[in-house]
Amino acid sequence: MDRIRIRGGKPLSGEIPISGAKNAALKLMAAALLTAEPLTLTNVPRLADVRAMAELLASFGVNIQVTLSGNFGEGDTMRLEAQKITSAFASYDMVRKMRASFQVLAPLVARERAAKVSLPGGCAIGARPVELHLNALEAMGAKIELAEGYVTATAPDGLTGAEIVFPFVSVGATETAMMAATLAKGTTKIVNAAREPEIIDLGNCLIAMGAEIWGLGSSEITVQGVDKLHSAAHRVMPDRIETGTYAIAAAIAGGAIELIGAAPDTIASLNALLVKSGAVVTTTPRGMKIEMNGARPKSSDITTAPYPGFPTDLQAQMMALMAVADGTSVIKEKIFENRFMHVPELARMGAQVRIDGDTATVRGVEKLKGAQVMATDLRASVSLVLAGLAAEGETTVGRIYHLDRGFDRLEEKLSRVGADIARVSE
Ligand code: EPZ
Repeated sequence: MDRIRIRGGKPLSGEIPISGAKNAALKLMAAALLTAEPLTLTNVPRLADVRAMAELLASFGVNIQVTLSGNFGEGDTMRLEAQKITSAFASYDMVRKMRASFQVLAPLVARERAAKVSLPGGCAIGARPVELHLNALEAMGAKIELAEGYVTATAPDGLTGAEIVFPFVSVGATETAMMAATLAKGTTKIVNAAREPEIIDLGNCLIAMGAEIWGLGSSEITVQGVDKLHSAAHRVMPDRIETGTYAIAAAIAGGAIELIGAAPDTIASLNALLVKSGAVVTTTPRGMKIEMNGARPKSSDITTAPYPGFPTDLQAQMMALMAVADGTSVIKEKIFENRFMHVPELARMGAQVRIDGDTATVRGVEKLKGAQVMATDLRASVSLVLAGLAAEGETTVGRIYHLDRGFDRLEEKLSRVGADIARVSE
């Protein structure tokens, strides 16, 4: 199995191109199921999760053609044509490997009026139930049956618009409701909708496909159902979590990097904290720039929250920065109940972290020390890479298949800006 080897202590300088967003691309791909006509996505990131979603969609009969980009800074182009759906079944093996696979349920029910999709089950970062998705489909008239670990959803006469009030904010459930509503009869109102930029990206793509949607980016989304959707082309938005991760890389390793194609307004909550920690963050015509000129970062307190709050997907990376900051930082994880798995690994590198329920107290140390560590999930594993950039000596990160799920050519991007990082085979 491959590992990532990092020799720490090198400041970064240069440019990193930002890829298309994983968490937008996966749902945009699922949206192709809503129409018999082709959907063309550009700026698609090169990721294991994107390949897994393509495989799942192909098993439903979707014809997929990928044109690989020859330009390192530009994503691939993917044409998805679901002219005829030949199967509406997503197996446990598929959904267990990648939870986002569950997002095929709504478009399949909306278009085919019946689908059978495995329940995702638990995952490393928490239990992650799906009752909000199912309640939304039920409110729109689908009959939901749960048996042997599978959801069977049927709506023989099609879905009907409804008022859906979410008791708390869920990105996935908002996407389920929005996709289902595009082909439902009548109007759907989604109350307490997620406001994440990826929801806006999906909504804009659906609008380009002929859907009628209002209120994207607010907590109330209205969808007027239409008879059918049509062909469209859509560019996947830049990945704000990848952007934030590389911004933190500059803050932890020192130096100055420009993140080409980044959308800084989508990570305003992070940028405010980076500025507090001593970084200079500027918007540039091509993206954003972050500079950290040698000074030790200062500590800040962090609480994760739905957008526009601080993203849970950047919590582990900020903990790596706080581990070397001057002062003590209190980090509260409010979205997932088990998202501190990076803590024991960071501790192997000398981080001083105490956990009490959903709160981690991080006492910054002057220097981390390189060590052998293990990736446990996608964002946790990249926090170990960031810690390795700042640590004295050599760090090796094992189980990097987690990284390949969500970071497009990470070691290539970091080595281009001067990090001493390589993928090595055991
Ligand atoms: C999306 O997950 C992202 N995944 C996650 O990124 C991200 O951390 C999360 O949103 C929050 O921003 C994708 O987009 C593929 P939620 P999602 O529904 O949609 C609970 C990564 O590393 N909940 O907003 O699954 C849930 O357990 C991943 O890229 C219910 O209880 O997140 C969680 O505590 C990890 N019942 C909270 O709500 C439900 O029916 C928010 O989850 C649905 C959710």
